[in-house]
Amino acid sequence: MTQVSATPTAHGDKAGSGLLSRLRRDQPWWLLPLTVVGVLAGFGIYALVSVFVFRPGEIGPYLSPFWSPKIGNNGTLLGPFPGAAFILLSPLAFRGTCYYYRKAYYRSFFWDPPACTLGELRHRKYRGESALPMALNNLHRFTLYVALVILGFLWYDAVIAVNNPLDGRWGFGLGTAILLVNVVLLTGYTFSCHSLRHLAGGGLDCYSTARLGAARNRAWRWLTALNVRHSVWAWVSLFSVLLADVYIRMLQAGWFLDPHVGF
Ligand code: FES
Repeated sequence: MTQVSATPTAHGDKAGSGLLSRLRRDQPWWLLPLTVVGVLAGFGIYALVSVFVFRPGEIGPYLSPFWSPKIGNNGTLLGPFPGAAFILLSPLAFRGTCYYYRKAYYRSFFWDPPACTLGELRHRKYRGESALPMALNNLHRFTLYVALVILGFLWYDAVIAVNNPLDGRWGFGLGTAILLVNVVLLTGYTFSCHSLRHLAGGGLDCYSTARLGAARNRAWRWLTALNVRHSVWAWVSLFSVLLADVYIRMLQAGWFLDPHVGF
């Protein structure tokens, strides 16, 4: 069995300080940050290609989450920018300022610091998120409000995906199931948000004396149950958005027909 030492050991660093002194050999510690960098960078590049290079992600009753809600003609809205480019700003701001993703990208992209037991690698005054550009992270609550509106549109898209406008028939396809799963996972991610939990009851000292205290307490407990798995919701919803767009792209390319049952 591999022994994990609680005490960092020095490997080739005489002074016993600095990054090398903390290098662990008992496990591939670099695997997680490398995966985070690969997945987030890959997702970002794919989203940009989907919006700026591919045509609008819509076929039959299915609308890609990258392109919802439809604004403009979803071709070009403002000069070279498709409507989806403006929609993309919402999830970008919401996820970019998310408390969980902040931890993930501070550690993985910036090594600032790379883990909770390590100090700052850069020896300059710690400014936290009190100066630009990181101070923008404090706007997370406002990005939540926009995300809630977008979530409403995504629920609408998933529900009307049972009606195919091409032949006017009702049905339930694999694409419908993918859009529904996607919006459920996005709902889990949005409603497990730390800011929403705080809005529900985080700022209260006493529920029993607060206005609507009982209802807020119930909401806070419900949101807390979701919140403990916020990181899981963050990742699975990221992949479900990707899957929904890729599936619609495959249908558009004519690789196969959407398996579905008609009513
Ligand atoms: S804290 Fe992650 S979405 Fe709000």
